[in-house]
Amino acid sequence: MENIEEIKLNLKQTMSEKRFLHSLGTMKMAEKLAIKHGYDEQIAALVGLVHDIGKEIPKQEMFKYIEENKIKIDEIEEKNTALLHAKIGASIAKNKYNFTEEMQNAIKYHTTANPNMDKLAKIIYVADKIEETRNYEQIEELRNVAMQNLNKAVLLILNHDIKKNIDNGKIIHPDSILTRNQILSEE
Ligand SMILES: [Fe+2]
Ligand SMILES: [Fe+2]
Repeated sequence: MENIEEIKLNLKQTMSEKRFLHSLGTMKMAEKLAIKHGYDEQIAALVGLVHDIGKEIPKQEMFKYIEENKIKIDEIEEKNTALLHAKIGASIAKNKYNFTEEMQNAIKYHTTANPNMDKLAKIIYVADKIEETRNYEQIEELRNVAMQNLNKAVLLILNHDIKKNIDNGKIIHPDSILTRNQILSEE
C-alpha cells in the first residue's frame, strides 16, 4: 500500500481544486465514521481520499479505459456516464495503489449503492454525501444520523437521491432500489 501523503499530493496535482477538497473532506468523514462504527480508520481514510479518482476523465477516454481494462458495465451506466467513474475509479485504485477487493468494491458502490455493501462500502457511500464541503437542506440532520446509525444514513441518502432523480426526470439505477428495499426489510 502506498503512502497516503504521496497519494494526496498525486491527487492534488491531477484533480480540480473543488474535487480535491471534496476528496479530502470524504477522507476525513470516512475516518470519523470508521472510528465511530468500529472499522479500520486508516483504510477508510485511504478509500475516502481515492474514491473519485475516476471522476475527471473525459468521456471518450472513459470508454477507452473500459475497453482496455475489460470492465463490465450495464446499459444504464452506458447511458448515464456520470455513474461510470465508480467502476473506473475502482480499477484505477487497484492498478495504481493495489487496493484490495473490499476497497475496490467500496469505490464501485459509492454512486448507486449496492445490496452487497459491507461496512467499509457504507462508510464511503455516506462520507461522500455528508463531507464538510457538501451543503444541502437537512445535511446537519444527516450528519447526526450517520454518527448513530450507518444503515439509516444510507437509507436517508438513497431516499433523497431517488427523489431527486424522479424530480429531474432521470433514470434510477436498480441497485439503488435494491439497496433501499434491503435496508427497509432488515429493519
Ligand atoms: Fe463519485
Ligand atoms: Fe465523491
